[in-house]
Amino acid sequence: MTALVDPALSRWQPWAAMVEDFGGPEQMHGSGYWHLDGDPVPTRAGCAAFVTMTEATSTADVDGTRVPSTYFWIAAEDGDPDDDLVGFLHLRHTLNAWLFEQGGHIGYSVRPGARRRGHAVRALALGVHAAGRLGIDRVLVTCDLDNEASRRTIEAGGGQLEDEREGRLRFWIPTAG
Ligand SMILES: CC(C)(COP(=O)(O)OP(=O)(O)OC[C@H]1O[C@@H](n2cnc3c(N)ncnc32)[C@H](O)[C@@H]1OP(=O)(O)O)[C@@H](O)C(=O)NCCC(=O)NCCS
Repeated sequence: MTALVDPALSRWQPWAAMVEDFGGPEQMHGSGYWHLDGDPVPTRAGCAAFVTMTEATSTADVDGTRVPSTYFWIAAEDGDPDDDLVGFLHLRHTLNAWLFEQGGHIGYSVRPGARRRGHAVRALALGVHAAGRLGIDRVLVTCDLDNEASRRTIEAGGGQLEDEREGRLRFWIPTAG
């Protein structure tokens, strides 16, 4: 199974193991790490900084370019406190001009050691459901033209291709029905 959980310092040990498995932030789409002052550090203090970052950026348009959003961590099982963490998912509540063209409502990544087990497909479905609870009718999800894993994740989630813009494929997924 797969669950979305709120970022929490109590989960710092599985969080640190996940960050180590990513081996660097380059593929941590949806994590929000770029709002940190530096790269994520796989320690308790590093987790605390990360959690504070997600809280600070989750509800406000901090600098006039970001929209309100929710950060989730992807848990391997049902979200119990001792679950392993396998990834990140970020749900943007609205689209600004860049998100409409390129970024979409939802971004996600799964740690290398937990890939190809269906976590991304299940996490995306949960993210779409969370968007529906916020009153969003359909979500935009995008991926690079050459990112087959992400494209297949979106297609498995019911994504309908609208077009390609500057190397990004843009799909819409209805949140209900
Ligand atoms: C994209 C990503 C999230 C997929 O995570 P995952 O948990 O391995 O995906 P799943 O196991 O749910 O598989 C989803 C689909 O992708 C396919 N897939 C997964 N990895 C693949 C790969 N390396 N090459 C081709 N297809 C792949 C699966 O077969 C499945 O397709 P299917 O339903 O048609 O069988 C993961 O590869 C990742 O984190 N990549 C780096 C970050 C990234 O690109 N994020 C998306 C940004 S738009």
